[in-house]
Amino acid sequence: MKLAKLAIPLLSLFILSLAFISASLAQPAAKADGGALFKGKCTMCHGPDGKGYPAIKTPDFTSPKWQASMTDKQIIDIIKNGKKGTAMMAFGSQFSDAQIVALKDYIRSLNSAKK
Ligand code: HEC
Repeated sequence: MKLAKLAIPLLSLFILSLAFISASLAQPAAKADGGALFKGKCTMCHGPDGKGYPAIKTPDFTSPKWQASMTDKQIIDIIKNGKKGTAMMAFGSQFSDAQIVALKDYIRSLNSAKK
């Protein structure tokens, strides 16, 4: 029964590695990197610096005027649910609430009045 003798340590190794993987997966979600998320999912429409593209009507996130026009809740709602009738899609199914808040914080950090 060599196989059975091997199976037990192999199985425990497998369980250990699963625990490892889930622990390392849990970390990025806990402290989501809004800047990295923005680069991955938003820059194609909002520009690498968040300044937007007039041609597709994306606003300038660096503008203090734009920043003042939006509440945190509005920004979060739009990221979650999108804007009906525009190219701004809903990201609620792709991101956790923590990731959406991190994106909102990143957008806030772009405010040129804060620099
Ligand atoms: C396919 C293109 C596209 C992608 C990808 C995209 N957006 Fe947008 N987004 C738009 C457009 C277009 C608007 C402006 C809609 C309008 O008001 O006409 C917009 C608007 C917004 C607004 C509201 C601006 C306002 O003044 O009402 C926020 C906040 C926003 N996007 C955040 C994000 C974030 C964060 C991501 C990435 C997770 C993202 N967007 C990805 C196209 C996109």
